[in-house]
Amino acid sequence: MRLIAALTAGLLLAFPAAAQEPDPAQVAKARAAVKAMGASLKSELVAAIQAGGPEHALGVCKTIAPAIAAKAGATSGLKIGRTALRVRNPANAPDVWERAVLEDFLAKVKAGADPGNLERAEVVTDAAGARTFRYMKAIPMGSQPCLTCHGAPEPGLKAAILRLYPDDQATGFQPGELRGAFTVSAPAP
Ligand code: HEC
Repeated sequence: MRLIAALTAGLLLAFPAAAQEPDPAQVAKARAAVKAMGASLKSELVAAIQAGGPEHALGVCKTIAPAIAAKAGATSGLKIGRTALRVRNPANAPDVWERAVLEDFLAKVKAGADPGNLERAEVVTDAAGARTFRYMKAIPMGSQPCLTCHGAPEPGLKAAILRLYPDDQATGFQPGELRGAFTVSAPAP
């Protein structure tokens, strides 16, 4: 499966001429959906930290992040998730298209761009002619509450993170850096 996915994605990258302009209405819908998802994630996180501290919030985040993404997807008809170059949950690892976009975002941030303003929308056509709308919006690393769990977590919290995510790569971030991105896909009209 992975090999097939990699080959297909390789083909997509090999034929960039297949990329087309996305439908502005679909872009607007994707923007609104990720904005709503970001806001509800943040408020749920802050509430969970207040209720039971960051270790408790970790477990909440593990369940609520995918649940919020699924709900946002169901109401908008879009597939929505989060990804990053350095992930906490390996299930959030980027595919080839997402990785290329993240690397482009990272280069722009290193050159001085504000990660809060970076987005990409494209229609991608695969070898079989299927058209997929794809959208990504960069997620900046914030100060609080983000630093608690993605900066230099204190030892007890660090151990709890590693129990849930033994391959965690998502610490050591500084505010203002690129933390990751929301990623959206749907059949293109
Ligand atoms: C209570 C600890 C905690 C806090 C606070 C927190 N996160 Fe996370 N973060 C997590 C966990 C746990 C995951 C993995 C969720 C999953 O399993 O999908 C995660 C995953 C992510 C991901 C998805 C990619 C990946 O690494 O798997 C992004 C992007 C992200 N966090 C950004 C942020 C930002 C931005 C903030 C501040 C608004 C923040 N996080 C605050 C614990 C936290």
